[in-house]
Amino acid sequence: MTVVDPDVEAAEIEAAIAIGPNGDEVNAKVPFHMDSPLRVPAERYYSREFFELEKEKLWPHVWQMAAREEEIPDPGDFVEYEIVGQSLLIIRQEDGSVKALYNACRHRATELGRDCGRFPGNQIVCPFHGWRWKIDGEITHVFGREGFDPETIKKEDISLKEAKCETWGGHVWINMDHDAPSLQEALFPAASLLDRAAVGNMRVKWWKEAIINCNWKLAQEAFFEGWHVKQTHPQLYTYKDSPGNETNLQGTVYTPFMNGHGRFWAGDAKEGYGGKPDFLEAAKLNWSGQDAMTLERDVHVFEGVANGMDTSSPEYVGRAMKALFDYWDGAGIPHPPMGPEFMKLWGGDIHLFPNYLMLPMYVNSLAYRVRPHNDDPDWCRFEVWSLTTYPESYETPRAEKLGRFDKDDADHWGLIPRQDFANLERMQRGIKSQSLPHTTLAELWEVTIANMHQELDRRLATDY
Ligand code: FES
Ligand SMILES: [Fe+2]
Repeated sequence: MTVVDPDVEAAEIEAAIAIGPNGDEVNAKVPFHMDSPLRVPAERYYSREFFELEKEKLWPHVWQMAAREEEIPDPGDFVEYEIVGQSLLIIRQEDGSVKALYNACRHRATELGRDCGRFPGNQIVCPFHGWRWKIDGEITHVFGREGFDPETIKKEDISLKEAKCETWGGHVWINMDHDAPSLQEALFPAASLLDRAAVGNMRVKWWKEAIINCNWKLAQEAFFEGWHVKQTHPQLYTYKDSPGNETNLQGTVYTPFMNGHGRFWAGDAKEGYGGKPDFLEAAKLNWSGQDAMTLERDVHVFEGVANGMDTSSPEYVGRAMKALFDYWDGAGIPHPPMGPEFMKLWGGDIHLFPNYLMLPMYVNSLAYRVRPHNDDPDWCRFEVWSLTTYPESYETPRAEKLGRFDKDDADHWGLIPRQDFANLERMQRGIKSQSLPHTTLAELWEVTIANMHQELDRRLATDY
């Protein structure tokens, strides 16, 4: 089921640029609002007042990535999605569709499901007094019905309440506001861009979580730009012949889109700045450093055509790409067409407002979802997916989170995420320094951070 039109023209996507800074009407309603696209007030990352406003105006009204579809392959499968104290059960229905039901018994509020699992016989049963519902939320059994005033247990009052729920790109999305715009409208143009990278074919390779002492926005913004690579991930900076050449950065273009979404991707100028990365070395480091975006099978393909060539030469990169497409065709792996309009996004990043990111590469993607943790602006729940595309004949098993791991756990996190995670808690400590009324953004590289905050202010100023 796709809710996004796959035929959206590239020109229409590129025209969907951000509407820019807000005026007084928005700013007057939002504490610590964005005054300039070049500065983010520090309090936005730790103030209780600001966090409460997000709880009231953002989370109950915005589309959120609640689950991967393959977490709930069969009817009766459920997974819980929790956001700032609200819990929803995402449940696969008998007709293959998905519903999101509030996770609270309508008798005395007992939680009906936790984490993930299966409702046997497609019946949801309350563990306290045994009331039962169909998996679409309709009440089927009230234990002790004769003890209640019939007026209080009318079907419509004790069936489980639904939130809006739609699917796109292999994900299930929810919105608790029944008056919200459609998912298609809300995700434009980010979803259309990701359709061009064929993310709908991708499935979970692995999925993990870390709890991090950092505000949810600060954590996700650390992935809105690629120019931290040189300092944070020096091993990945494989440019040759360009000692200290910062102009390589010009090869990446940052675009703020409407609805708070953003993108960075390879610019057209990359070849012109002297110094090219060693393609094969970078691929190996990417695989060994995070086991996402570039996978072992890709490295094998690239190694197979190296034959002593200069692996930073355009000839080699062309040959490696051709070999990859041939491999996909031979293995029956669906893929986007060969062409710059599809391949430019590889190694780049699409942020879907408010808190989901995809970094597609070949037929793989890294994906991040960041949520507040425990009603605390200083903590977030950071989830990481490695997605890939399997041969069409392959039956994907039910996806389960491998676990929650300490951010420093080298047995469960590769070098690349550990390097990123290490920055996050240091940023959260620094952001409270009285020397620092705001952070300072680069006009060229950090424009999508400002764009996300400006959209957030528009949400926080809305009267629902
Ligand atoms: S609390 Fe659920 S049946 Fe009583
Ligand atoms: Fe990073």
